[in-house]
Amino acid sequence: MDKLDLTIRDGTVATAAETTRCDIGIIGEKIVAIADHLPAGARDIDAGGRYVLPGGIDSHCHIEQLSGMGIMSADDFYSGTVSAAFGGTTTIIPFAAQHRGTSVTTTVADYHERARSKAVIDYGFHLIIGEPTDKVLNEELPAAIKDGITSFKVYMTYPKWRLEDYQLLEVLSVAQREGALVMVHAENDDMIRWIAKRLIERGHGAPKFHGVAHHALAEAEATHRVIMLSRLLSAPVLIVHVSSPEATNTIRAAQTLGAKIYAETCPQYLVLTADDMDRPGVEGAKWCCSPPLRDKAAQEAIWAGLGNGTFQVYSSDHAPYRFDETAKIPRGDQTTFKEMANGVPGIEMRLPILFSEGVLKGRLGINQFVSLTATNHARMYGLYPRKGTIAIGSDADIAIWNPEIEKRVDYSMMHDAVGYTPYEGHVYKGWPEIVISRGRIVVEGGELKAARGSGQYLARGLPGPVAVAGTIDGPARQLRNLIG
Ligand code: URP
Ligand code: ZN
Ligand code: ZN
Repeated sequence: MDKLDLTIRDGTVATAAETTRCDIGIIGEKIVAIADHLPAGARDIDAGGRYVLPGGIDSHCHIEQLSGMGIMSADDFYSGTVSAAFGGTTTIIPFAAQHRGTSVTTTVADYHERARSKAVIDYGFHLIIGEPTDKVLNEELPAAIKDGITSFKVYMTYPKWRLEDYQLLEVLSVAQREGALVMVHAENDDMIRWIAKRLIERGHGAPKFHGVAHHALAEAEATHRVIMLSRLLSAPVLIVHVSSPEATNTIRAAQTLGAKIYAETCPQYLVLTADDMDRPGVEGAKWCCSPPLRDKAAQEAIWAGLGNGTFQVYSSDHAPYRFDETAKIPRGDQTTFKEMANGVPGIEMRLPILFSEGVLKGRLGINQFVSLTATNHARMYGLYPRKGTIAIGSDADIAIWNPEIEKRVDYSMMHDAVGYTPYEGHVYKGWPEIVISRGRIVVEGGELKAARGSGQYLARGLPGPVAVAGTIDGPARQLRNLIG
């Protein structure tokens, strides 16, 4: 065997499938050996007493992106990827967001330009489809897929992005034909607007009313509707940032039936509740995201969904908006919940929260943790087995976790550019100590070791299967027989 560049010795190595006490050998960017005992590398890391896990993949984050309300996120591709790396993540898939009046081609070129010189870890893009014209559907989406953008996000809410059911069917139909995956923000826009108008008219503009307007039934209705659209075409759909028991149960039922429905949830729905929005003045805006934080019973339903496989992926939905006039409070303390940028930061806290509250508290096994945070993202978004696992030939993307370290969260620990964390004061146990991306040490000893711009663009393959891929396509087959 050639001399190893890096040996990670004596760690508890966990993949989605198994847990083994072994050494890992790395040459250049790749894992080249996994064995009981390997020769010393040019650099030897003693991982005794540590978990050695695939670097996390965060497949839902908003970086240097203009939101559906037209607000720029606080993190650019430097601060966003640095923050991700400190939290044990080695790959991100943020969004290239098409706004009405801009072509997909221009949008994608623009996001490449934003990321290229700044990212410190590897990245791909999903495309947000804001305007599915014939040209977009027939020319630009197939071209984007060829360029490695094999998943699209669509919105059922937000005035600037909301697609009608007819348009959703058009997007699903192209994705189904081309083998791409459609991610759906499922909330019923009319229900939300109807409630919000009445709340505002009655003077209920405080942040906590955001949670009233974004009703759990609005999430459940849209979730049910998009499942029916998916079934009509037998087109796989991933429902993102699921927050409510109603939506979770609807997804579970569809999966049990065999529909091609995947689902994602996020850290905020595990450890925060609607009470966090209920603070003096407009402070609660820091906790306003969509779908919103709900109650303790909802938290339990989401935890159950992680444990029983309803959710295949756990992402941050990092949507970093500053608590100032640029984003969260455009009219200072007069700002109503309708005017606030929606979203919470969490790219750095995503994995420590699940490790602490999931693995160490016995709600999830370590292999489930790896599936939910890395392997399923890689499979589902066409990066497997290059990313998302520890295997010979895979990229050496590894996070070494110390399960004994306990920290009280303080914003000064974060590396994003948001200015606050919704997890301030929370105590979590188990943190990544060394983070390695393509064989390069990115984070060690609390310091960033990677250069700005050293992350690489990942042209992704077509989505591959994960555990619950359903097979029913009776309605779609009948329809295809008639209309092709
Ligand atoms: O409130 C949220 N989640 N903001 C980010 C945009 C989105 O819909 O994911
Ligand atoms: Zn969304
Ligand atoms: Zn999002």
